[in-house]
Amino acid sequence: MGYPPSEWPEPIVPVQSLSNSGITEIPSKYIKPPIDRPSLDSFHNSETDLYIPVIDISPLINGSDRTDEAMHAISHACKEWGFFQVVNHGVAPDLVQKLRAAWREFFYSPMEAKKAYANDPKTYEGYGSRVGVDKEAILDWGDYFFLYLLPESTKNLNKWPELPPNLREITEEYGEKVMKLSKMLIKAISTSLGLDENYMLRAFGGDNIAGTLRVNYYPKCPQPELTLGLSPHSDPGLITVLLADEHVKEGCQVKKGDLWVDIKPKTGAFIVLTNAIYKSVEHRVLANAESERFSFAFFCNPKGDMAIGSAPELVSPLSKPLYEPITFNEYRLYVRNKGPLGKSQVESLKAA
Ligand code: OGA
Ligand code: NI
Repeated sequence: MGYPPSEWPEPIVPVQSLSNSGITEIPSKYIKPPIDRPSLDSFHNSETDLYIPVIDISPLINGSDRTDEAMHAISHACKEWGFFQVVNHGVAPDLVQKLRAAWREFFYSPMEAKKAYANDPKTYEGYGSRVGVDKEAILDWGDYFFLYLLPESTKNLNKWPELPPNLREITEEYGEKVMKLSKMLIKAISTSLGLDENYMLRAFGGDNIAGTLRVNYYPKCPQPELTLGLSPHSDPGLITVLLADEHVKEGCQVKKGDLWVDIKPKTGAFIVLTNAIYKSVEHRVLANAESERFSFAFFCNPKGDMAIGSAPELVSPLSKPLYEPITFNEYRLYVRNKGPLGKSQVESLKAA
């Protein structure tokens, strides 16, 4: 049998169906061991709220004289947190609202319509409810739709929902706009490291940098204290631009030292998670008894078959590479087995 397999180890039960069935106890497959359970009172972290970076990036878009200030804020946030929020990012609020509405309609459509797009472990493209193929894995309380947006050659519209009628068009437009934003952020990050502004873009594939989208749907959960919407992980690509739910602010948490800190996204902001560059921030999503939640994670990934290693310009006898070079396609396979597992897959690739 090849790896990854082309079938899931057991029939997929969408979390949405479980949630809608009115159960008051979650199936044992979703119950995390006590040590991995969230402590739901970590919600009260108003002190750290003050420091969670929110960056106005309009100077980068307009090329104004406040560019240095924005660049400095990005560089500081990357070193200190591994993530930041951006406002005045230039992606139209109207487009964002249409995207949310289209995908809400898709997830609310009849189960048979959604199952027509069911994904498999080989490609992950389509409608799914688990990531890992290990039969023993404990599952997360969430469903998703995963698709390839960019470059054009990877896009297969037939695998995207046909309904609602504007979903494909809106999603394509959103992908283009967010890729443009991502490239601008990658340039800023490159400059902040003392590299040429195009260095990172070139090193990760130039026009072949990939854009993929994971639309997350976290239905209401009767026992949120026993499980997670999405287990701890760090995203594998370059950066992730996350659009969180417009109403339900709590849910996504990032790890800061030993603590899980809530990100309460500002209205209209995107959350930018840095991955390969700077800190690759570990994050997770809580389940919620009162409210369902939608989010859109746009992953900006290196071209799949390019070896990714440390920039020679940044390596010195005092600052040795931490990891051996690896291609993105190889790296991704690590996550296919057990699903999200904190940073253990990164740890296992450390240079000797
Ligand atoms: C992801 C992710 C966070 C969220 O999809 O990789 O981390 O808030 N999502 O849904
Ligand atoms: Ni993530």
